[in-house]
Amino acid sequence: MTVTVRPETADDEAAVAHVHAAAFGDDLVPRLVDRLRERPAPLAPQGFVAVVDGEIAGHVMNTASWLDAPRALVDVLVLSPLGVLPRHQRRGLGTLLVATAIEAADQAGAPLLFLEGDPAYYRERGFQPGEPSASASRACASRTPRSRS
Ligand SMILES: CC(C)(COP(=O)(O)OP(=O)(O)OC[C@H]1O[C@@H](n2cnc3c(N)ncnc32)[C@H](O)[C@@H]1OP(=O)(O)O)[C@@H](O)C(=O)NCCC(=O)NCCS
Repeated sequence: MTVTVRPETADDEAAVAHVHAAAFGDDLVPRLVDRLRERPAPLAPQGFVAVVDGEIAGHVMNTASWLDAPRALVDVLVLSPLGVLPRHQRRGLGTLLVATAIEAADQAGAPLLFLEGDPAYYRERGFQPGEPSASASRACASRTPRSRS
């Protein structure tokens, strides 16, 4: 099995939509990815695909968001979505894609990388759970880039 991770291109869009439809079970996430790609943003979207023996089997994306800090709105990145084709899961592709997304956020100089996801998965892959919040319906986590920690 040959696995590579590379930046996504426009030619990958159909395969990426297929990955998320299969991973999440409907077309909600593929439509979210389309909206995230076309949204004007201060930090450019960063998308990566995992390719297994020539087939796109996984995808991850970092997109821009804002942290409403006391003195200013701060440009940050959000890791979402992350998906792997069901038949390629539990082979390390998700871990590889998360590591790639973290590295890309570091390279872009993002002060924080956020996500909403299962702490049981992301804690072991470099994220720290956020404080529980009565208004948050899903667990949040963040990662401070190596250069600033
Ligand atoms: C989550 C996902 C991306 C992981 O991809 P993957 O390629 O299987 O990940 P890896 O092979 O690197 O890691 C697999 C391990 O993570 C574990 N894992 C998967 N989802 C998990 C979760 N929600 N919580 C805790 N552990 C989880 C698996 O049980 C497996 O553990 P094992 O190695 O001890 O058997 C994949 O399961 C997926 O696409 N799921 C559906 C979409 C989704 O939920 N995306 C994440 C949104 S936050």
